[in-house]
Amino acid sequence: MTHRSSIALFAAAMLLAAPVVAQVTDATIARVAPTGAVETPLYTVVDGDKVDSNSIKGWRTWRAMACERCHGPNQEGLVGPSLVNSLKVLTKEQFTQTLMNGRPDKGMPNFGGVKMVVDNLDHLYAYLKGRSDGAIKPGHLHEIDK
Ligand code: HEC
Repeated sequence: MTHRSSIALFAAAMLLAAPVVAQVTDATIARVAPTGAVETPLYTVVDGDKVDSNSIKGWRTWRAMACERCHGPNQEGLVGPSLVNSLKVLTKEQFTQTLMNGRPDKGMPNFGGVKMVVDNLDHLYAYLKGRSDGAIKPGHLHEIDK
């Protein structure tokens, strides 16, 4: 086999591999986006993208503060860590401390002086817990019809 044809073969293999990766990703999304209702003491979610009035405030705070700039639009991490992972281990107390004091030496800003964050700390926590649990889908949310 010539060098050139082995490159072509490699490229073809990569093309074939691409849809497989996409399938795995889709399977993950299907698992984290269940239909039906999930109700916990922190949040209620229907069909993955309709949430209770508190969780939607959490999501709005997330958007307004552009946390995604560092933690990624799907909370899966960028320059900051994946909060989908973090919220599995972080206690509520650690979460609160991190937001109220920041970790200025590590690049996490201090939101303690930001009224919207202070007022919506529990809602932000509920929303991110729902994301971390895989019950709330990434992306746009709606409030459950009342
Ligand atoms: C300018 C970038 C930036 C922005 C904006 C930002 N963060 Fe962070 N955040 C970080 C970095 C970097 C860390 C990791 C700090 C460290 O290494 O301890 C972090 C850590 C955290 C942690 C702790 C994660 C852990 O595993 O210990 C939480 C929770 C968090 N951020 C939530 C938020 C929320 C909610 C917002 C929006 C209100 C936000 N962050 C906005 C950069 C940012």
